Amino acid sequence: MKYDFSHSISRRGFFAAAAGAAVSCSLRPARASTEDERRIKVGPGQALLNGAEGPSTAVWTYSGTTPGPTLRLRQGQPVRITVENGLDEDTTVHWHGIRLPNAMDGVPDLTQRPIGPGENFVYEFTPPDAGTFWYHSHADSLVQIGRGLAGPLIVEEREPVAADRDLLWLLQDWRLTSDGQIAGGFGSMMDASMSGRVGNAVTINGAAPADLSVTAGERVRLRLANACLARMVALRFEGHRPVIVAVDGQPCDPHEPEDGRLVLAPAMRIDIMLDMQGGPGSRHAVVDDFYDGLIYTLTTLAYDKAPPLRHHLLDAPRRLPANPLPAPDLAKAERHEIVLQGGMMGGGKLAGVGGMMGMAMPGMNGAAAWAINGMSMTGDGDAGMAPQFTLKRGVTCHLTVRNETAWWHPMHVHGFSLSVLSRNGLPVPHRQWQDTVLLAPKDTIECAFVADNPGDWMLHCHVADHQMAGLMTVFHVT
Ligand code: C2O
Ligand code: CU
Ligand code: CU
Repeated sequence: MKYDFSHSISRRGFFAAAAGAAVSCSLRPARASTEDERRIKVGPGQALLNGAEGPSTAVWTYSGTTPGPTLRLRQGQPVRITVENGLDEDTTVHWHGIRLPNAMDGVPDLTQRPIGPGENFVYEFTPPDAGTFWYHSHADSLVQIGRGLAGPLIVEEREPVAADRDLLWLLQDWRLTSDGQIAGGFGSMMDASMSGRVGNAVTINGAAPADLSVTAGERVRLRLANACLARMVALRFEGHRPVIVAVDGQPCDPHEPEDGRLVLAPAMRIDIMLDMQGGPGSRHAVVDDFYDGLIYTLTTLAYDKAPPLRHHLLDAPRRLPANPLPAPDLAKAERHEIVLQGGMMGGGKLAGVGGMMGMAMPGMNGAAAWAINGMSMTGDGDAGMAPQFTLKRGVTCHLTVRNETAWWHPMHVHGFSLSVLSRNGLPVPHRQWQDTVLLAPKDTIECAFVADNPGDWMLHCHVADHQMAGLMTVFHVT
């Protein structure tokens, strides 16, 4: 039942369709049966993170691979996903960015009893929004995501989007030992109170990056997803001009990124339309230059020798169809503020975080190194979390997030997409909706959302070490 745009549509077929007045492809996804049933088995496995020659690395997998299988769902169509736990410890699956019923959100104890070893859990939801999402463990998140429990989730638009190919790069990074195995030491104080567990090997779709072969003139819809625990990336496509068409699954005004850099913090997704404007046989680096002094070539666009597919840019709109997001009513909004505190300051001192426990060994053994509004919730979620604030169903929440720390934090909200209004007092262009908003040190952002979905919802930093060490809170919608 899976519909793969890249295989089911020939270039010639697409070209013919695109030449018509309206770009309505004759090739449509086959109709789904009323029941869309999937099964995911969580368990140990092996992956070739060190390249095809190996050695292979012991990892945790969804149905045998990391990342797990690409789930292609249909907008507005119910799906039922049975997750079987073949690990020796509890797990859950969180469907990151999908607006779904709270009981399906996958937060241990807060929204469901964790799935014990040998147990199953059936997730059922109907994705309202088309776009690029992902799924990952939300139990012992730092270790479980760090050992591989993440996978891509695509919700297809109702009508195919005009592009010659639809590709996805799910980025993961791994801290590997010299013999190519996943290093222990998850949750060290150094990582927890500073930049988090940044690894030493980056993979694309679970493999050491190889060249991407492309054809001159083609338009690729490229879905970028950062599934790293802590690594931020800033991608530059040398010799190319990517156009951003969606952020965190939500369509935006098509625009070129500032400085040509695509900045993706952990959990963020960006969909781009990439016109292959290089010449046949040419090569162009894709460079990650987020960290000063750690600039590297992630992969290379390698043009085949074929003559250009077309001589002008594809003359089809890049804009994606809008998703049915409720519009915030700012005039009547209820205001809340979240202040991010803690972390290591200059001179190796930990910033004071009020009201927290375990100051002696910050970041170790579940102790706190961070706080939100003076309170540190550590771990992955639990039943006893007192909500930071409560919203009446249907109300617009105007949320200010202030980063008082010296570190970067991609702040993620479960269950909602946020309309980002401003950053450091300046309005944000391009009408962006995001479920994960990156704050640079000392940044303040303002955003808004309609609290249309009842339940207990997490709000946390998606640098996994930061979340585990206190940069997490909960709010409640009645
Ligand atoms: Cu993708 Cu609570 O996280
Ligand atoms: Cu989430
Ligand atoms: Cu953080």
